[in-house]
Amino acid sequence: MDIFSKIFNRDFKFEGRELIMEVDNFRFLNVRNQDVPTYVEHGSADLGIVGLDVIMEKGLDVICLLDMKLGRCKVSIGIRNGDELDWNRPNIKVATKMVNITKNYFASRAMGVDIIKLSGSIELAPLIGLSDIIVDIVETGSTMRENGLRVEEDIMESSAHLIANKNAYYAKKDEILSLYDKLNRVIKNG
Ligand code: PRP
Repeated sequence: MDIFSKIFNRDFKFEGRELIMEVDNFRFLNVRNQDVPTYVEHGSADLGIVGLDVIMEKGLDVICLLDMKLGRCKVSIGIRNGDELDWNRPNIKVATKMVNITKNYFASRAMGVDIIKLSGSIELAPLIGLSDIIVDIVETGSTMRENGLRVEEDIMESSAHLIANKNAYYAKKDEILSLYDKLNRVIKNG
C-alpha cells in the first residue's frame, strides 16, 4: 500500500469493509492472499501481488513479472528440538497449509509422506503428536523457536511478486509495463 500511495501520490487505504477501490484508471481489489492467483488466472484481475509460495502452491497459469522484494520468508521443514528426521522412514506425517509444495518436495526426494492439511498454527501439530514434522512459512523464526521446534531444511525462498493474467498482459501490455516501471522504480529507490 505504501508503494502504491507513492506511485499514485495519494493515501492508499480500503475504508471499512470496502473490497474495491477506484484510483485513476485502476480498480484495486482487496482479496485474501490465497485467492490472488485465482482472480488473476480467471482474468477477473489483470494483475496481482502475492507471495511466491502462494503462486507455487496454487500452480496456476499466470505470468510472474516482478519480485517486489517484500515479505521475504522461507518455506521450511520444522521438527521438534531433540527429534531427528529419519529420511528413510516410510510415511512420515507432515502437517502443513501448503499441500502441493510439500507433496512436490518430498516426491522430488522420492519419499512417501502422509500430508495432514491444517489451516493455521501449524507448529502445534508435532507438539501434540498429530505429525512428525511440519512444512511452514518461516520469517523471523520466532514462532518455531518459541514452540521448541527448529528448521531441519529450507524448501524455498519467497517474497511478494507482481503477477499478470496472460491475456491481459498481451492486450494491455503498455499499461501493465508502465505500472511495472513505476513499481520497479519505487522498489529500487525506496
Ligand atoms: C505464519 C507461519 C508461522 C509464522 C512464522 O503464520 O505459518 O506460524 O507466520 O513467522 P515467524 O518465523 O516470524 O515466527 P501466520 O502468522 O500467517 O498465522 P497462522 O499460524 O494462522 O498461519
